[in-house]
Amino acid sequence: MTAAPLSIPPALADTLARAVNVVVFTGAGVSAESGIATFRDALTGLWSRFDASALATPEAFAAQPDRVWGWYEWRRAQVDRTSPNAAHRAIAALAGHVSALTLITQNVDNLHERAGSDEVLHLHGSLHAPRCSRCARPATFAAEGADALADEGRAITPPACVHCGAPIRPGVVWFGESLPTGAWQAAQAAAEQCDLFLAIGTSALVYPAAELPLHALRAGATVVQVNPAATPLDAQAHYNVRGAAAAVMPRLLEAAGF
Ligand code: OAD
Repeated sequence: MTAAPLSIPPALADTLARAVNVVVFTGAGVSAESGIATFRDALTGLWSRFDASALATPEAFAAQPDRVWGWYEWRRAQVDRTSPNAAHRAIAALAGHVSALTLITQNVDNLHERAGSDEVLHLHGSLHAPRCSRCARPATFAAEGADALADEGRAITPPACVHCGAPIRPGVVWFGESLPTGAWQAAQAAAEQCDLFLAIGTSALVYPAAELPLHALRAGATVVQVNPAATPLDAQAHYNVRGAAAAVMPRLLEAAGF
């Protein structure tokens, strides 16, 4: 079976061409074509292969710091081996065509930055910003060798903080933790002020991040979703463009004449 050719509705292209204040809100799907697994896709998603409560909570880190640190170090090493894809690059390019663009991501990789987006609001933190689990100071340490990091199940003892001796933790937001205040406030303000909101590659299931498109809708923005699959946002979005982000985003810019 051949996929239907990707078509961008002319009214959507026109809306993008006229947009002044744009929010781009991304999830794991935007990095899928770089080879990074999403969380909830059946079979391939991280949460179909691993137990989120055993890896992505403060309680899990307290109980099994080596297991949790090893898993996040495996993910960080995986990101280091990959490259941004056409979706990341199109989003970076879009910033040059509109008056204001706020890029908000739930992703903990650094592929937006490596594609040229210099200001990124990381609502769920970053794999690349570890910090002390007690004094919260940023940490630098010598990473394990590639062999250790190639194994997704390898337990690795977290390094000790050079200031207070407590274990270093991943700089990500775990379930049960608050989002970084500054990034969350800036994201909410941007969603309330934009005229076009693009939700790309997110299942729109994890709150409070999933509130952002709803803020934008209430404020009167046009909301566009880019996703090969349906999400709870489908019913409310003005446009649902079905397709992979790396295929859709360059087409969308082209259709707008950028
Ligand atoms: P999910 O794994 O929940 O959703 C990924 C979405 O990307 C799905 O809707 C897929 O249909 C879509 N998708 C898959 N391939 C795609 C592609 N090539 N192009 C575009 N879309 C594609 O990931 P998130 O929505 O990012 O949080 O998940 C949100 C949060 O849940 C994550 O930040 C993480 C996770 O648990 C924490 O760990 C706190």
